[in-house]
Amino acid sequence: MSNEEKIEKLHEMREQTRLGGGEKRVEQQHKKGKLTARERLDLLMDKGSFQEIDAFVTHQIHDFGLENNRPLGDGVVTGYGTIDGRPVYVYSQDFTVFGGSLSAAHAKKICKILDSAMKTGIPVIGVNDSGGARIQEGVISLGGYADIFLRNTLASGVVPQISLIAGPCAGGAVYSPAITDFIIMVKQTSHMFVTGPEVVKTVTHEEVTFEELGGAWTHASESGVAHFAAENEEDAIFLAQQLLSYLPQNNMEEPPYREPTDDPLREDEALNDIVPENPNKPYDMKEVIQHVVDDGIFFEVHQHFAQNILVGFARLGGHVVGIIANQPAILAGVLDINASVKAARFIRFCDAFNIPIVTFEDVPGFMPGLVQEHGGIIRNGAKLLFAYAEATVPKLTVITRKAYGGAYDVMSSKHLRGDLNLAWPTAEIAVMGPDGAVKIIFRHQLSQAEDADAEKAKLVEEYRQKFANPYIAASRGFVDDVIEPKETRPRLISALEILRTKRDQNPPKKHGNIPL
Ligand code: HXC
Repeated sequence: MSNEEKIEKLHEMREQTRLGGGEKRVEQQHKKGKLTARERLDLLMDKGSFQEIDAFVTHQIHDFGLENNRPLGDGVVTGYGTIDGRPVYVYSQDFTVFGGSLSAAHAKKICKILDSAMKTGIPVIGVNDSGGARIQEGVISLGGYADIFLRNTLASGVVPQISLIAGPCAGGAVYSPAITDFIIMVKQTSHMFVTGPEVVKTVTHEEVTFEELGGAWTHASESGVAHFAAENEEDAIFLAQQLLSYLPQNNMEEPPYREPTDDPLREDEALNDIVPENPNKPYDMKEVIQHVVDDGIFFEVHQHFAQNILVGFARLGGHVVGIIANQPAILAGVLDINASVKAARFIRFCDAFNIPIVTFEDVPGFMPGLVQEHGGIIRNGAKLLFAYAEATVPKLTVITRKAYGGAYDVMSSKHLRGDLNLAWPTAEIAVMGPDGAVKIIFRHQLSQAEDADAEKAKLVEEYRQKFANPYIAASRGFVDDVIEPKETRPRLISALEILRTKRDQNPPKKHGNIPL
């Protein structure tokens, strides 16, 4: 064979790798409203930046006739390239080849990507669209999954890992995305479950659809497994790109800085009137965040799950921050199991990746009740406390209104190494709300009063005057300053500036024992 012929053969083989499972299967994929593995990467990566590796890998199975069918690439496209000019490693499962099922060879390709990402400190985005373990290969493919799980775990906290679910992801296969940092699911076309509707029917006699059991909406609003539910694949890919713009390449780097177009010294008069005078009236904490951050852009994570707490990314003076905020508009912003776990996970992500944490606090306490106690609000609330306490990134807190009881301690208080704790004049920092407090401490007096209602109203007002304010906490140094709400943005930005050189660490240990 001449050199020219050899090169011609290479071109032919390359062409073959691009066909995936063939035209008919590509057509079927499109008919389902899904893109192919390569189309997804084309949309995700900067034009022309994708460099494929392992395109000639084939499976080594010798049974069930598969020995005569060895498609190049074996059902997953892997490689690297850039997104907005920043390097990323990627893999994208190809459903047109054996239903994207995972063989040992397929798994090895993904492992190579994860190993390279860890060595180079580069984020990984994986697109999942797979029928699970390659059935013809048996236990060998299960081993392949475990190899991936191990690497996902070792990479956790080293490089950001994002999973896009764009088709089936079932059985043990769900545990790879579950270990990664963020899951983006596509509505209608993607599903995640440990066992499908048929098995569920047999075992528990429940009849459920794919969508009810493990669709994007279910996981984004009910289980919290998914951080984002995208309208379609293009939307999912756009979300992944946006998300990445807030993340550093690895745990040794800072998140990307963007020259601010919003004046860092901007004061915002609207904030002075945002908290209603009646302390029982709700308001939207999202509005507070939008008035404070650069250009009003708050990239919310877990938007539809445990909405009584808000988490997400934003920029202050061009620098990325992670925001955690009680949401008084939903369940009065109370902390329950889901809210605690949602916020704890986000805090730990930010801490692992050098993203300062800004907390907006208006919390009446932990949620009472049998469901919460039996569900383990003690164990789960402790996760939030633990996450705040162990975080060493800069921690800024703004108490807008209520900071009651244990929740005062938990929400990034001074006592948990808060770096700058600010309160608005509307803050009420106390063991509990005036009503509850008066009922307990004046129970005897009230039972003997001629007009119990009038007496109670008087005592509540006295208590409110005395305790429902930020000045007792300020007199102890538990809050560093009481500020006009409109000053919040410049105050936070100057604090972030001074804290840029912050160094803090936890005692040496193998790892803590967060109450899981
Ligand atoms: C081998 C598979 C496969 C698999 C699909 N295919 N899944 N081949 N191993 N796991 C093949 C099909 O045989 C078919 O090939 C082609 O992919 C397309 O599949 P269809 O069934 O035609 O597609 P669709 O109707 O869209 O259904 C998709 C599906 C279904 C829901 C994913 O294929 C399915 O139920 N697959 C099996 C799922 C499963 O039980 N996997 C094992 C789970 S256990 P042909 O040539 O006929 O077109 C597991 C354990 C992991 O994964 C444990 C880790 C610890």
